[in-house]
Amino acid sequence: MEPGKSAYELDLDTLLVEERSLKCQLVNTDNGVKFILTLVPLKDGTVRLRVEEESPMRQRFTPPYVLNGEPVPDRLKLISKSDKNVLVAYGSYVIDLEAVPFKIDISSGESHLITANARGLFRFEHTRPKPGCLHVFFGNKGVYIYREVRDESEDPGVWEENFKSHQDNKPYGPTAVAMDFTFHGAQVAYGLPEHADSHALRTTTKGDPYRFYNLDVFEYELKSEMALYASIPLLIAHSPRQTSGVFWLNPSETWVDIVTGNSNVVSSIVNFVSGGPEPQVESHFMSESGNIDVFFLLGPKPQDVFFQYSKLTGTAPIPPYFSLGFHQCRWNYIDEADVDNVHKGFDEHDMPMDVMWLDIEHTDNKKYFTWDPFKFPTPVEMQQNLTAKGRKLVAIVDPHIKRDPGYFLHNDATNNGYYVKNKDNSDYEGWCWSGSSSYLDFLNPAVQDYYSSRYKLSNYQGSTENLFIWNDMNEPSVFNGPEITMPKDNVHYGGWEHREVHNIYGLLQVVGTYNGLVHRSDIAEIENTQRPFILTRSAFSGSQRYAAIWTGDNAAEWSHLAASLSMCLSLAVGGMSFCGADVAGFFNNPDRELFVRWYQAAAFLPFFRAHAHIDTKRREPWLFDDEVTRLVRDALRTRYSYLPLWYTLFYGNNATGAPVIRPMWVEFPADTDGLTLDDQLLVGDSLLVRPVTEAGASQVSVYFPGDKTIWYDVESYQLYNHGKTTVPVTFSKIPVFQRGGSIVPKKERVRRSSQLMHNDPYTLIVALDSDGKAEGYLYIDDGYTHRYIYRRDSSVYIHFRFADGKLSSNLVGDTRYSTPCWLERVVILGMKPGPYKAIAFSCK
Ligand code: NOJ
Repeated sequence: MEPGKSAYELDLDTLLVEERSLKCQLVNTDNGVKFILTLVPLKDGTVRLRVEEESPMRQRFTPPYVLNGEPVPDRLKLISKSDKNVLVAYGSYVIDLEAVPFKIDISSGESHLITANARGLFRFEHTRPKPGCLHVFFGNKGVYIYREVRDESEDPGVWEENFKSHQDNKPYGPTAVAMDFTFHGAQVAYGLPEHADSHALRTTTKGDPYRFYNLDVFEYELKSEMALYASIPLLIAHSPRQTSGVFWLNPSETWVDIVTGNSNVVSSIVNFVSGGPEPQVESHFMSESGNIDVFFLLGPKPQDVFFQYSKLTGTAPIPPYFSLGFHQCRWNYIDEADVDNVHKGFDEHDMPMDVMWLDIEHTDNKKYFTWDPFKFPTPVEMQQNLTAKGRKLVAIVDPHIKRDPGYFLHNDATNNGYYVKNKDNSDYEGWCWSGSSSYLDFLNPAVQDYYSSRYKLSNYQGSTENLFIWNDMNEPSVFNGPEITMPKDNVHYGGWEHREVHNIYGLLQVVGTYNGLVHRSDIAEIENTQRPFILTRSAFSGSQRYAAIWTGDNAAEWSHLAASLSMCLSLAVGGMSFCGADVAGFFNNPDRELFVRWYQAAAFLPFFRAHAHIDTKRREPWLFDDEVTRLVRDALRTRYSYLPLWYTLFYGNNATGAPVIRPMWVEFPADTDGLTLDDQLLVGDSLLVRPVTEAGASQVSVYFPGDKTIWYDVESYQLYNHGKTTVPVTFSKIPVFQRGGSIVPKKERVRRSSQLMHNDPYTLIVALDSDGKAEGYLYIDDGYTHRYIYRRDSSVYIHFRFADGKLSSNLVGDTRYSTPCWLERVVILGMKPGPYKAIAFSCK
């Protein structure tokens, strides 16, 4: 078929335009199959497009928990209708639906923003009876039986497929859907996490498309489109004038082809300005099953797209304060004495640390929710030893359940039918850490309730309110399954096939864990309950409402350190700001230089956890040498000094969806030299961090974005202007710069844990812009309960402003919170010399 041609046509005689939606029949002219197209404009600059079969033989799966409630429709107005097209208006946007060839064009004023099906790649494999089989139908005129003849042109693989020794029976046949989207004028594409690739997406036409199929990948490759643990099918296309997005809501296996001019952004702009072709980003989404349910996020600015996406899928709750501190993990801490020694080691070496972690070996034979009776006989005492220092414990709880007749969870699940089933309806059995295992079917509401109740303090023996949870292996990982996961023709609650549900399996688990943690104590009022902290490996859009994420099993290599930045940036613009990577690499042993550089970099990523494979050498930070110990201590202390900034940014993320860490384009959308950078990042809008990710570096190249923006080195206060510069580095140097015009809150009395710093005073770093002005924010609440959601006297959001030589502050909104903290120190950078007096103030 010629490009742009489509077998699909809109039958405009069936058009129905209502106040808040448009419906029209879409026909596949090759076979006459009919579809219903529905277009709904949503509040806040989003348009939803759904395509469903008019008379499906079987309904398609609508994934729960992804959307944060039903999106709110907005008004639509019919402008005109002819036999060729229909034009409707939504706010200042015009949507043109063309009948033949079928396409949808969204524009704003004179500019075309997004066209759907411009390349004619829309496909919808309708449900059909299996050829050669007898089919029984119950129609409204009685019962029909017929045998369908095989269509010789049809690939036999659409009804059955073999992968190594696995056979995928496809009882419902081919059910794929696909569509292309063109972003006019866009130069760069971002998003589509999780992939171990550059932050700016690459053109994929010479290789594989980006793949979404949540998998436990052993020793994953970098610079690759291959699928990893998480799938967030949000694509963002950007130009200095316009940022827009497409969110493809489909949790089955999905592939996305991208064509973008990002390899040479500058020349594509020069081209365009000098009358050359307009740049564009082309994308082609293909999913194995499910409906077409697409959201066009119309921007126009980066922050608008984040807000629009957060309106659909929600934002992360404000994390408990401790979880922004440092986490010490390894597979495994051997026993209680080991845990005790390690956290005492942090005290002995004067290093702050908030959380000790226990991997799978802490359980009784990999039976989750239990403790090894010999190595961890007194878990409550162990937790008390930690909490005495303001610390917490995280324990792992994987989704595979050991098929052990002495295990209560296995017995309950078997007796109640709580496991995912084989196609013959028997319980599916696979191999994982616990040996022969089965997998809870979290799609079943009864399993959700049961699973959540496992976290009750009275059920989870040995747990306390200071125990938090790590949900790992939840792609789900099945060692002997196809591609190390579950067969696609397994069956979930409601008769849904695993292929339809696959990419939300991890999301479904963390929903259960989250609800379990909120309700684990006997506290009746939700506002007084503790905020959960959950780390997940697998995720889908919406997971941000429940869990933090990390980039899985990386390696102790410089390239993996660099990849942790681009991967976390992509997750952050995909709504999952609470992201980090294993410090200093999961597999293999880092040398002392990589070890230090990794801590220095990770101190400026949102989730900061050391973790290592069971076969690696022990690497608590004091096990190298004195210099390493000192430098890691410095990195940890630096992290703790910025905790008020991190917390304030997570508050902002919760309120508006603004990512906590940001690539340059988010704050400087028109600075074309910064659009593809991913070796440096912004913390909020105030700190620019360019971690050292090369061995033996004596300098790093830093790009200071923003035409008129000035930047201050946070240690030396040296000033840098817009442009690319080389900055010298020593082994102790973390290149961090504060934006002129920003005020950053800090706490400088670093203690053993963040909790022990709770009532400590604040410092403000006021970095003046060239007009002598600056502003910034500080958010404060109790740091651990849900009161901030329900009570106005439970939090404050303070706006600081410096202008005309004076620092002032005011509360944003009607909030109050009483805190013993005070403002201890104000550092002003960039003050022009002159006579000053300092007046101290106090506030209640
Ligand atoms: C795989 C996880 O990615 C890793 O972090 C963990 O240590 C092992 N599972 C063992 O639980």
